[in-house]
Amino acid sequence: MAPVPHKPLLATVLGQRQERPPMWIMRQAGRYLPEYRETRTKAANFLELCYTPELAVEVTLQPLRRFDLDAAILFSDILVIPDALGQSVRFATGEGPLLEPLDEKAIDRLDGARALEHLAPVFETLRRLRAALPPEKTLIGFCGAPWTVATYMLGGRGSADQWTARRFALEHPKAFDRLIDVLVKTSIDYLAAQFEAGADVVQLFESWALNLDDTSFARQVIEPNRRIVEGLRQRVPNAPVIGFPRGAAGNLRHFAETTGVNALGIDFSTPIDFVNAHLPPDLPVQGNLDPLRLVVGGEAMESQARAILSAFKNRPHIFNLGHGIVPETPIGHVERLIEIVKAE
Ligand code: CP3
Repeated sequence: MAPVPHKPLLATVLGQRQERPPMWIMRQAGRYLPEYRETRTKAANFLELCYTPELAVEVTLQPLRRFDLDAAILFSDILVIPDALGQSVRFATGEGPLLEPLDEKAIDRLDGARALEHLAPVFETLRRLRAALPPEKTLIGFCGAPWTVATYMLGGRGSADQWTARRFALEHPKAFDRLIDVLVKTSIDYLAAQFEAGADVVQLFESWALNLDDTSFARQVIEPNRRIVEGLRQRVPNAPVIGFPRGAAGNLRHFAETTGVNALGIDFSTPIDFVNAHLPPDLPVQGNLDPLRLVVGGEAMESQARAILSAFKNRPHIFNLGHGIVPETPIGHVERLIEIVKAE
């Protein structure tokens, strides 16, 4: 049998602290890279970019050609799931995603039967990435966690307070639960197929784990993430999963303990001392530099990056941002950040 290649990032997710923390950058393929903007013009629209393996492989690999990163993340989007379920999804330039908002009846028309077939190009992208990547690089797959995806499906677009979805969950609990059931089931199928196609680890993006009281957090965030981890591991034993409940704050520990994720993405508003005081010392964490510090660079970036490295040096740690990199980020600042992390 061929020896199992050592992948520092995957090993960290599995709980093995590395001498130097491995790193990747949330949303590392994207508009801050001129080569991404160039490739983007070859697709008629954003979803076509996600569903064209040749282009999706190219943009996935772009950040790894420039930077010494330890992982590639599949190029796709969390909103391919509503698209695969038959909801109308489009990405308007400068406006972000626009969906035909769901009502109770539209929830019952969502069609899970054909979703995986619709997503077949994503699995082809992963197979090609697996073949193209050096063995020490970790290949990360992902999907949106059900609540976050539901906020877009119900609200029709991004919003600062997720008002429409939060209200729907309380006013129409049965229809809301049916929506979450469809999303949990489809996400399990989708992630299991990502592992089959070559992903080493998956991240569940719960970008809107905010603005929820305890009861809603347990029902809308923790329980669907827990069901996905459990259902996925029935299909892919021991599947490595990174959870990222952005904004979970005081619920972070409850989330980690209940969902069973291997590693926890930490947003940048969570104090690093809070993480060390409240999360088990052997729980792998990922994060948590404010993306704005990467835009500004210099001392604002360097001092905080060093503080994070130092605070997490005795536990399994994956260096990352505390949310996605933004288009105005100077590439030179990314290079400098990587130098700092590699100098550890
Ligand atoms: O390198 C990578 O991480 C690439 C894959 C990726 C994209 N989106 C590509 C993308 C991933 C992992 C995502 C996740 C995603 N998508 C999230 C969770 C992470 C987070 O930032 O909270 C969310 C909430 C979305 C939904 C979404 N997609 C929004 C709100 C937008 C518009 C604004 C934005 O953030 O850019 C998108 C579009 C999108 N997804 C772009 C990219 C590169 C830009 C579209 C373009 O090129 O025109």
